[in-house]
Amino acid sequence: MYRCKATCRAYANIAFVKYWGVVDANLNLPANGSLSMTLSHAHATTTVAWTNGTPAWEADIVVIDGKEQSGSVYRRTVSHLDRIRTAMGVNWPARVESRNSFPASAGIASSASGFCALTVAACQALAAGGRHDVPDQLHQARLARRASGSACRSFQGGFVEWSAGDDSTSVACQVAGPDHWPLYDVVAVLDAGPKSVSSHDGHRLAATSPLQKERVRQVQSHLNAARAAIHARDLKTLGAISERDAMLMHAVMVSSEPPLLFLSARSVALMRQIRDWRLQEGLEVYFTVDAGPNLHVLCNEADVGEVSHRLARGPSVQDILINGPGPAPELRNSHLF
Ligand code: DP6
Repeated sequence: MYRCKATCRAYANIAFVKYWGVVDANLNLPANGSLSMTLSHAHATTTVAWTNGTPAWEADIVVIDGKEQSGSVYRRTVSHLDRIRTAMGVNWPARVESRNSFPASAGIASSASGFCALTVAACQALAAGGRHDVPDQLHQARLARRASGSACRSFQGGFVEWSAGDDSTSVACQVAGPDHWPLYDVVAVLDAGPKSVSSHDGHRLAATSPLQKERVRQVQSHLNAARAAIHARDLKTLGAISERDAMLMHAVMVSSEPPLLFLSARSVALMRQIRDWRLQEGLEVYFTVDAGPNLHVLCNEADVGEVSHRLARGPSVQDILINGPGPAPELRNSHLF
């Protein structure tokens, strides 16, 4: 039934300098470069088996966290399998099973870890089936980028910069390995509901904001300063850039046509609280926030206990997830089916 099978675990990431807006929606070429940290405890484990298309399996099957998919998630996954089939010149159906270590509502982009793991497992399964021409890691990351921009950053562990450019130059490179700096991201889950607009759709609206050009112009200096701060293990500088960059991205979001308002009253209240902890109590703590209401709270290793404790006590925090710098994708010997 199976021609070949492989399993990959890939880790999500959080951006300090955000990717927002695309210059080419088909190739998912970003309007600007971005810089992220791969997360140690937020991963997707995905098994892909290419089948020989016997009548039992005429179409792709996609199961995520135990649930067989049929709607938009299924279509997005099949589109990506089509990209891989086209690149490899095969027409075999696939069975895909994936499990996330974090809840879908956690405010961590599951598309980055999901499409990275899917791409690596799908290519490795073809290699296991005897194909000698499977794309190398750089080309796999390029394929994954077309499915989800942030997925190309998850091909590297530690601290990662994804450059703007054309299809061959828009690649992600490691700035520093996971052991370089034990920086922590404590995710404060404020609202577990589904997002009204996906990042995927949001990127396509960025150019409608009169602020987007100015944001893109400022990103280059944010990238240079954030890279230097990571090399110097300087949380004060990286934290300040992360807050500023996230606020600029949200300014673009709220001034898009139609406007995208991802932050909730709870997000804003917690932002104020974090600033108070920092400015009034000297706790070195900063926030960033993606296309959703949940806050990612950045702190040094020594403060993780205190920060988690304070966040967990907050009346509006439903859950917290603690992540340090995580590794590159890993192939695994045990499969999900
Ligand atoms: C706000 O990579 O999820 O998290 O490319 O359409 O899959 P697609 O979007 P995605 O966008 C991430 C946007 C962000 C910022 C970031 O991670 O850089």
